[in-house]
Amino acid sequence: MSQVPPARPHQKLTEDGRRMREVLSYSRRGSRFTPRQQEAWDAHAERWVVPDEAIDRPGFDLAEVFGRSAPLVVEIGCGVGEATGVLAAARPGCNVLALEVWLPGVAASLAEVAAAGAENVRFCSIDAVWSLQNLVPPGGLEELWTFFPDPWPKARHHKRRLVQPDFARLVASRLRPGGVWRLATDWAPYAEHMQAVLDAEPALEGGVVERWAERPVTKFERKGLEVGREITDLLYRRT
Ligand SMILES: C[S@@+](CC[C@H](N)C(=O)[O-])C[C@H]1O[C@@H](n2cnc3c(N)ncnc32)[C@H](O)[C@@H]1O
Repeated sequence: MSQVPPARPHQKLTEDGRRMREVLSYSRRGSRFTPRQQEAWDAHAERWVVPDEAIDRPGFDLAEVFGRSAPLVVEIGCGVGEATGVLAAARPGCNVLALEVWLPGVAASLAEVAAAGAENVRFCSIDAVWSLQNLVPPGGLEELWTFFPDPWPKARHHKRRLVQPDFARLVASRLRPGGVWRLATDWAPYAEHMQAVLDAEPALEGGVVERWAERPVTKFERKGLEVGREITDLLYRRT
């Protein structure tokens, strides 16, 4: 990867030094920890959360933060980690990188990972698009998980959806041939959009699949089901 990574989101400045307006797939949320999140942070963050400063250091190497080279799985937007811990514990041979910009979510996820007994998860609280571009080498990704990404239902916000043609191209470039991208959503119009975008990416093939039985039911999925929404799972493979 490049020796000096480009500026991360929220750090980009215009030529005259003003903060650049960026289209991001998330909005800023509260950063306050609950007592339980604080406890999990104090117990595990030093070992499992990759500090932003480490990532900014020239020559940063992802394998080093795991302490080993192993097939890499990335989860984008792990939320409070309900799926992360369980799925990572079932794959001790993989390095699982969980990307979540909402820090209280990272803290909550640390507790889930500890409860699941997984030792193979590291967290970065940095935008996933930047992270895939700058931390994961081409062909370096075994699997990508994107469960219940923010649907941005209003038409004027559709540009903020994570799944877009450019992003699909980026993911395809990071997956190894045969590598898998798993997605799930409770928002039918977003499911259709995902399918259209991913079908149009020549380096991916797949479509809608049965619910991935191994994927734990998260709060988002439960809430969707409670209000009668249909859950869609998709699976695409790098050709
Ligand atoms: C609707 S939640 C779903 C959380 C979890 N996957 C679940 O199923 O419960 C989406 C999460 O993605 C995170 N997120 C959105 N865009 C992101 C990005 N570009 N990089 C990292 N995290 C992101 C948000 O902060 C939010 O916690």
